[in-house]
Amino acid sequence: MALFLWLGLSILAAVQSSAVKNCHPGCRCEVESYGLFDSFSLTRVDCRGLGPSATMPIHIPLDTAHLDLSSNTMGPLSDAMLAGPGYTTLVSLDLSSNRITKVSPNALSKLRYLETLDLSHNSLDRLSSSCFSGLPLAEVDLSYNRFQEFDMDIFATKANGGPVSVDLSHNKLVSVSRSLRGGVLHIQSLSLTANQLTSVPRLAGVPLRYLNLDDNPITCIEEGAFAQLKDLVHLSLSGLRELEEIKPHSFDGLQSLQVLDLSNNPRLKTLSPAVFSGLGSLLELNLSSSGVMSLPSNMLSHLPSIKSITLGQNIHCWRTQKQGQFHWQLGQVQHNEVLNCNVEGIIF
Ligand SMILES: *[C@@H]1O[C@H](CO)[C@@H](O)[C@H](O)[C@H]1NC(C)=O
Repeated sequence: MALFLWLGLSILAAVQSSAVKNCHPGCRCEVESYGLFDSFSLTRVDCRGLGPSATMPIHIPLDTAHLDLSSNTMGPLSDAMLAGPGYTTLVSLDLSSNRITKVSPNALSKLRYLETLDLSHNSLDRLSSSCFSGLPLAEVDLSYNRFQEFDMDIFATKANGGPVSVDLSHNKLVSVSRSLRGGVLHIQSLSLTANQLTSVPRLAGVPLRYLNLDDNPITCIEEGAFAQLKDLVHLSLSGLRELEEIKPHSFDGLQSLQVLDLSNNPRLKTLSPAVFSGLGSLLELNLSSSGVMSLPSNMLSHLPSIKSITLGQNIHCWRTQKQGQFHWQLGQVQHNEVLNCNVEGIIF
C-alpha cells in the first residue's frame, strides 16, 4: 500500500527542481522532472534583466524548453542572438521589454519547435514576411509595439512552393506541436493590443481562436472586417478611444465567436441590429463603459445563443426563461426566453 502511495505521489506530484549544469551565472535554471522514475524532464531558464554587460547569445542548457529573456535591452534582433545549443528545443520564448526595433529575417529560424513567442513592450513597427517562416507558432504576443498595419501573411509558411490551407478548427492548442513542418498555419492566439493600428488588419485564412486588438486608434470597423476567421472564439475590441462606427455585417463570418468585448469605447454611440448578423454562437457581449446606452429592439434575433450582455456603467442582462410559457411539444425555447436586466426599463 505504502509503495503504491509513493509511486502515485511520484507520478502525480513530484515535480522536482534541481541545479542545472551550464547555467549562465545571471540566470536561474530549473529542471522539472516528472513521470514514473522521472522519465520526463523540462528545463526552464529565467534570464530576466541580466544587466548591461550581458552579451547575446546567452548560453543556456541543452534542451531548454522555456526561456525568459525579457528586460535585457537587446535592441535589434540579429541572426546570431538566438542561436546555439539549447535554443533549437525552445517551446516558449519571452523577449518582452527589450527595445527591439527590428527582427532580422533569420533571427528566429533555428527555433523550429517554438509555439509561444512574447514580443510585447518593444518598438516594432514591422516584421519581415519570412521571420516566422516554418515555425509552429500557436501564440504570439505583439502588444505594446508600434504597428500601424499588420499582415497575417507573416504566419503563412510555404510547402512545396505554395501556400496550403488546413482546417485546424477541431484541434486543441496542445496538439499543434506535433506537426506539420511548413505549409500549415498554426497561429491560434494573437495580441496586437496597444499598437497604432487605425483599421482592422487583414486577417483572412488563419485558424485564430483568440484575437485582441484593444487600445488601438481604430476609427471604424468595416463590413466583413473579420470575414474568414471562422474559428475565432474570443474577440476583444476594448478601449478603442477613436472608434465611432461599426458597420452592419462587420462580424459576418465569425460563426464560432463566443465572447465579444466592445467595452470602453466611449465614442461608439449606436449599433444597428445588422451589426450582430452572423454571430450565431455568441454567448457574451460586453458594451460596458461604451457610448452605447440602449440596444436595438430586434438585435436578439441575430443572437440566438446570447447568455449575457453588459451595458453602460453597471447594467447586466441575462437570458432567462419566461415562466409558464415553455412549450414542451414544440421544444422551441427561444420564443419564451427573455433577457432580464438588473435595471428596469431595458427593452430588447
Ligand atoms: C466587461 O468589460 C469591463 C471593462 O473592460 C470589465 O471590467 C468587465 O469585467 C467585463 N464584463 C464581463 C461580464 O465580462
